[in-house]
Amino acid sequence: MKVLGIDIGGTGIKGAPVEFPSGHMLAEHLHLPTPQPATPRAVTVVIQRMIRHFQFAGPVGVGFPGVIRNGVVGTAANLSSDWVGKNADQIFKRATRLPFRVINDADAAGLAEVRYGAGKKEKGTVVLITLGTGIGSAVFTRGVLIPNTELGHLPLHGKDAEKTASAKAREKHDWSWKKWSKRVREYLLLVESLINPDLMIVGGGVSRRSEKWLPYASKGLRTKVVPAKLYNEAGIVGAAMAAESRR
Ligand code: BGC
Repeated sequence: MKVLGIDIGGTGIKGAPVEFPSGHMLAEHLHLPTPQPATPRAVTVVIQRMIRHFQFAGPVGVGFPGVIRNGVVGTAANLSSDWVGKNADQIFKRATRLPFRVINDADAAGLAEVRYGAGKKEKGTVVLITLGTGIGSAVFTRGVLIPNTELGHLPLHGKDAEKTASAKAREKHDWSWKKWSKRVREYLLLVESLINPDLMIVGGGVSRRSEKWLPYASKGLRTKVVPAKLYNEAGIVGAAMAAESRR
């Protein structure tokens, strides 16, 4: 079975066809910039372009950077606030005439890491944290996802954690990997103290260069902390999984 997986981020929108049950991407992913402002209309145009590029006709799964309940957007911290209250499943379906399933982007990445990647062997509680434009989280216990946990907005030193520990915060302030990894460490300690998981997986684009920062960021944690195995592709594969499981 083939599903198109699309990962909407605050900076870029990536997609590729994914084959199941293998979870393999069938083509090199296409990366398009997130329109600014990222209104429902502007993002829909990018989704249409993505479908045309792959000449795709089938189910589409989307990871969206906000709270999603039954397709309805609850929050959209790094996209246009026009999304809030809108049914993203229906907006995309109407514009493309294809079946869509939209879920939170970090939940999508978590689904892929737990099924195919770094969380494959863990039966206990797993927390995946994605460090990108924002901070996303996915929490699983015995392989079951608790959706929309939004741990990226926990307060850290009185601020929204994603404002000080995301990959974007590092770039914005031009912090060294070491300086940034100290913030990430404080953040991971906070998450650990709340959830007490058996495994923490750290994903997002920065997971590709984890040797530069993860040793510092995980120092002193009781929990095993590992980088994502599917790197940034977890978001695409997991988004496709959301639509695959709805057949
Ligand atoms: C959003 C989350 C999302 C994360 C990563 C946060 O700002 O609130 O829903 O998972 O960014 O994109």
